[in-house]
Parts: sequence; C-alpha cells; structure tokens
Amino acid sequence: MPPSTYAEQAIALRVNGQAHALTVGPSATLLQVLRNDLGLNGPKYGCGLGQCGACTVHIDGVAARACVIPAAQVQDRAITTLEGLGSRQRPHPVQSAFISAQAAQCGYCLNGMIMTVAALLAREPQPSPQAVRDALSGNLCRCGAHLEILAAVAQATAAMAAEPANTGAQP
Ligand code: FES
Repeated sequence: MPPSTYAEQAIALRVNGQAHALTVGPSATLLQVLRNDLGLNGPKYGCGLGQCGACTVHIDGVAARACVIPAAQVQDRAITTLEGLGSRQRPHPVQSAFISAQAAQCGYCLNGMIMTVAALLAREPQPSPQAVRDALSGNLCRCGAHLEILAAVAQATAAMAAEPANTGAQP
C-alpha cells in the first residue's frame, strides 16, 4: 500500500479577536474552517472559486475570498468575519445602513457586500461612485438589489463621516 499523502495539521487562527487551535486536513480552506469548525456562518459558500464574493472576510483589514485561501496560510493573521464586524447591540455602520436601506432580496450576497464595503470605507472614507462600483464589481447579486446596495453604501459613508469613531464592535 502506498503511503498516505493525507496528513492533518495543527494550526492556530485568530478570528474576531479570539485565538483558536485547530486540526485541519491538508486542503481545508479558510471558509470550511470558519463555517464547519468555528460555526461562523456569516461567510457563505457560493461558487467556491473566488468569483462570487459570498465568502468574503477581512484578513488584516483587507477583503479576501475565504473559499480559495488555505486555512494554514493565514495563521497569525487577523481574520474578521461578519460576526466580528459588529454586534447586535453595536452594529457596524455598514451593517446598519444595509438594514436601513433594505438592501437585500434573498440575502445570500449580503455577507460579501457588507464585508467588501466595510473594507473599502476603512481605506477610502469618501469613495467616488465609480470606486464603489469598482469595489463591488466582484460581488455578485443575482436578485437585482443593486440600487438599494448603492444607497446603503451612501448611507454608511455619510454615517461614518458623521461619527468616525463608530466602527462597530471591532475586537
Ligand atoms: Fe468564495 Fe464565491 S464562494 S468567491
């Protein structure tokens, strides 16, 4: 019998400010670990190919596609999911704006939209309309809530300009 090439691996992840010690398979993606091992179901499985944006998380504050990132490659990085962006008691302004603007139909894309917009506004507090469109161009919404999503971004931009210290419940 040939030797097995399957070898589980001990890894350490820092997610939403909490440290986790995990044992994962060699091909485990960050999305699989977040959803299956840590029970964080904010990030969604859509295409699994890095093309739809449903799985978006922040890695060191930058929006990233968790479905194509091996979990073992992001040890000791600061990973933030939708759950860590804000809380029910203190939502991130982008979360509040999406609710206020009713910027969803089925809601499956919302995680990616919100995480992408939050990362955009963190690095560019007053983005141009084209910059918003460019940032969201890789986040697919098949329902057609695009106008409401753009309205939510405008609301969030204004709210964060009025209260720059309000960045949700960041760990
Ligand atoms: Fe990750 Fe589609 S599920 S980009």
